[in-house]
Amino acid sequence: MQLKKLIDKKAINNNIKQMGADITKYYQNNPITVVSILKGSLLFTSDLIREIDIEMNIEFLKIASYKGTKRKSIKSDISIDFNIKGKNILIVEDIVDSGNTVNYIVNEFRKYNPNSIKIATLLFKPSSYNFNMKIDWIGFNIKDDFVVGYGLDYNELYRNKKCIYKLNDE
Ligand code: IMP
Ligand code: MG
Repeated sequence: MQLKKLIDKKAINNNIKQMGADITKYYQNNPITVVSILKGSLLFTSDLIREIDIEMNIEFLKIASYKGTKRKSIKSDISIDFNIKGKNILIVEDIVDSGNTVNYIVNEFRKYNPNSIKIATLLFKPSSYNFNMKIDWIGFNIKDDFVVGYGLDYNELYRNKKCIYKLNDE
């Protein structure tokens, strides 16, 4: 397995700083509930929330939809143990690929009548995205390559890397 650097730490930091500023401006001091989608968005969430200067609480949701580099269906047994009703929900994702995961989550959340739902993702693969739902904040648009590092894994490996890498499996 070979790793080829795609996005370096400095570019990641810069984009997160900008995204945090945009999000701060957008909510105009209205409190938010950040929902971090585990495990992939662990590092992104921890950096992004420090760039958002508004009152927030932070919740976690665990969802997995990949095995190796192959897509599989989402485990539909997510248990939501926090308040959604009337809240401004900000979903924080590591990557939006087909969009199945984030669309599934948004549809689940809607059942509980939030005041608003927005999505922030570090990475977006526009050529794989199958939905019309708008992704509100995107760090980087990337090609349909499998990437790892900065929270993203291949079979649970490479999450601890500081940069984002393309995985070559030949
Ligand atoms: P989606 O449901 O197809 O949009 O995929 C979303 C989830 O799959 C993400 O939250 C990631 O955990 C995982 N995923 C998608 N693409 C990649 C990738 O290139 N590398 C690592 N994980 C990925
Ligand atoms: Mg994920």
